[in-house]
Amino acid sequence: MKIFVTGGAGFIGSNLVDALLNESHEVTVYDRLTTGRVEFLSAAAEHPRFRMIEADLLDADRLTAAVAGHDAVVHLAANADVRFGWSHPRRDVRQNVEATQNVLEAMRLNDVARLVFSSTGSVYGECPTIPTPEDAPFPRQTSLYGASKAAAEGLISAYAEATPISATRFRFVSILGPRYTHGHVIDFVARLLVDPTTLRVLGDGTQRKSYLHVSDCVAAIIARLPEDPGDEVINLGVDGYCEISESVGWIAKRMGVDPRIDYAGGDRGWVGDNPFIYLDASHMRTHGWQPKYTIQAAVEDTVDWLLANESVLEAAIIDD
Ligand SMILES: NC(=O)c1ccc[n+]([C@@H]2O[C@H](COP(=O)([O-])OP(=O)(O)OC[C@H]3O[C@@H](n4cnc5c(N)ncnc54)[C@H](O)[C@@H]3O)[C@@H](O)[C@H]2O)c1
Repeated sequence: MKIFVTGGAGFIGSNLVDALLNESHEVTVYDRLTTGRVEFLSAAAEHPRFRMIEADLLDADRLTAAVAGHDAVVHLAANADVRFGWSHPRRDVRQNVEATQNVLEAMRLNDVARLVFSSTGSVYGECPTIPTPEDAPFPRQTSLYGASKAAAEGLISAYAEATPISATRFRFVSILGPRYTHGHVIDFVARLLVDPTTLRVLGDGTQRKSYLHVSDCVAAIIARLPEDPGDEVINLGVDGYCEISESVGWIAKRMGVDPRIDYAGGDRGWVGDNPFIYLDASHMRTHGWQPKYTIQAAVEDTVDWLLANESVLEAAIIDD
C-alpha cells in the first residue's frame, strides 16, 4: 500500500514508518518537525520506498496536493501535550481539530478512502466505568487536549457517514518505548540524572495509569490498516495499570539510584490529569492483537532508551 503518515517524524510515527517499510509498504511522511526529529527517520531516509515532506497540516493546499495518489492516511500529527494546554488555549483546536479537517478534506478531494486516527483515552474525561470500554459515555471533558481529540473524532465520524472515508479511531493509553520524548518517564529520568538523591512527584503518587509499548501500538495500527471498517473506535492498552509511585520505583531501580520522593500532594498532578486511566482493550483482542510488553517492561525499555539517547533528555526538564 502507499501510506501517508502525518506526524511520521514523531515518537509513534517514526516507529510506525520503520515497521511499514519493513512490511514492504511505500511511505510518505508529512511533518513540520516541531516535536518530530529527522534523526528518528535516519534509517527510513535510506529507503527507496520512503519520501519526506516537511510541511504544515495547516497549509491545506500543500496537504491536498501531497495526499493525492495514496491508498491510506495514518493521521498522527497533533499537539500531543496534555498538561500545558491552558498555556496555549487555542493550540489544541488548531493543531488537533482544524488540522484533522484539513486531512479529511484532502482525502475527500483526492478520493483516498482509508483513515487511521490516533485519538486518546483522554476523551473519556474521568469516566466512572473502569476499565473503560469504547461505548462508555463521556459527557464531561477535563482537558483542552481531550476535548480537541473528541472534536476531531466527531469530524471523522461525520466524514465517514457522508463520504467513502472508512475510519479507525484508536484511543490510546499513554505510549512508551524507543523515541519517547514527552511524558512522566522522561521527566523523571531527566531530573534523576541532575539530582539522583531527590525526586519531586506531582500528586500523591497514587494516580493509577495504564501504558502501552510503542511496538504494540504500531502492531495494532498495521493490523487494522488493510481493513474497511466504515467507522470504528478501538481502545488500545494493556490489561491493567500501575500507580505512579510504582513506576517511580521501577525508573529509579533501572537507573541504579535510590532517591527520596517528595510528593507535591493532592490526588492528581495538574488540572486535567486523570487520576485513574485504564481502558478496556478487549475489542482489539478480538482481532487477534495481544500486547507483548507489560507496563513494567515498557517503562524499563523506555528508561534504557533514554539513557542511551541523552540528547533527547536535554530539553526534557519542565518547571512545575
Ligand atoms: N504518546 C502518547 O502517549 C499518546 C497517547 C495517546 C494518543 N497519542 C496521539 O498519538 C499521536 C502521536 O503522538 P506522539 O507521542 O508520537 O507525538 P509526537 O509529538 O512525538 O509526534 C507528533 C508529530 O506531529 C508533528 N506535527 C505536529 N503538528 C503538525 C502540523 N501542524 N503539521 C505537520 N506536522 C505536525 C510533529 O512535528 C511530530 O513529529 C498524536 O496524535 C497523539 O495525540 C499519543
